[in-house]
Amino acid sequence: HSVELGDHRHYMHKEIFEQPQAVIDTLEGRISQEHVLPSAFGYQAESIFKEVKQVQIIACGTSYHAGLVSKYWFEDIIGLPCSVEVASEYRYRNPVVQDNTLFVTISQSGETADTLAALQQIKQVANEKNVSTLTICNVPESSLTRESDLTFLTHAGPEIGVASTKAFTTQLVALSLLVTVIGKLQKRISERRETIIVKGLQKLPGLIQSALAHEEVVKEIAKNFSDKDNALFLGRGTMYPIAMEGALKLKEISYIHAEAYPAGELKHGPLALIDENIPVIAIAPHNDLLEKLKSNLQEVKARGGQMIVFEDEQSNVGSEDGLHVVKTTTNVGRITAPITFNVPLQLLAYHVALIKGTDVDQPRNLAKSVTVE
Ligand code: G6P
Repeated sequence: HSVELGDHRHYMHKEIFEQPQAVIDTLEGRISQEHVLPSAFGYQAESIFKEVKQVQIIACGTSYHAGLVSKYWFEDIIGLPCSVEVASEYRYRNPVVQDNTLFVTISQSGETADTLAALQQIKQVANEKNVSTLTICNVPESSLTRESDLTFLTHAGPEIGVASTKAFTTQLVALSLLVTVIGKLQKRISERRETIIVKGLQKLPGLIQSALAHEEVVKEIAKNFSDKDNALFLGRGTMYPIAMEGALKLKEISYIHAEAYPAGELKHGPLALIDENIPVIAIAPHNDLLEKLKSNLQEVKARGGQMIVFEDEQSNVGSEDGLHVVKTTTNVGRITAPITFNVPLQLLAYHVALIKGTDVDQPRNLAKSVTVE
């Protein structure tokens, strides 16, 4: 590889630590005086975004999880309907396409076969339905950028570790800019709200940096995982897709079976799995779902489960027997929270894999870019 490892043992570790810079690079030139520039998405973006009635996001793997987070943002922050689906399902199921849909593909590589096929398929009805296509992609001159009307390039830099980290973070930054710019152009949010969002994004590199500073604590926690066969990740709201991403990272590189559940669904099945052998990881930012999450944690505790809770400065979940609380961040906002809370989960997967001695950057059976079906 032409990209140097420097002091890092693995590309994945290097890429996790590059995230503050990747965010800076992705924001660079996309904001002017606290306003998001529509032209960051292409010169026709402004006229297209004004007409969008709903958003359909298509992606695979980690990129799909970025899409899932943004669904909460689109509907909650700007009230625009948003659907998210994995490409391999969407392309084979004759989906109903609504008029004035913005069809968004998200991809690190720009070459994922299923995502590309879904895009090619939608283009056949694009004129008739007034559908526009946008790709959020990390590779310029890739198949997805060539085939889309609009492109937003995430400036994560080359990502070599098969398990995606910094690309995901910059995809979320891109999606937050998209939500903000559409919201603004359609007068769904005020200028003041836009400014608040932009200021939050500008704080993100520092927030990620402070989450990274907790590496030693996470390393200690990882020691309790190496002999486990299963793990359960819990979250609510945007933390549910972040839990999915945390579980995916853990399975990809440590080969421990991991599952994510929306915490409210616990009682509909996974509670039956809880005993002292299955670690439960919960993500607990201070928000209006925290009290609900806390009672879910008590349900786990009552069954003898061992919990690790990642919280922020204001959550105050409180450590007790069987419940280990780690404060990994200061108080974070609706957009910055999922991006920041993802960081300790990346570090957790990395350190568990390190203890297990797996091939972190090249996990068995997986490819960085899946260009055949
Ligand atoms: C593979 C990679 C994942 C990635 C997914 C989608 O499975 O191992 O890390 O998230 O493909 O790739 P894309 O390049 O489309 O984001």
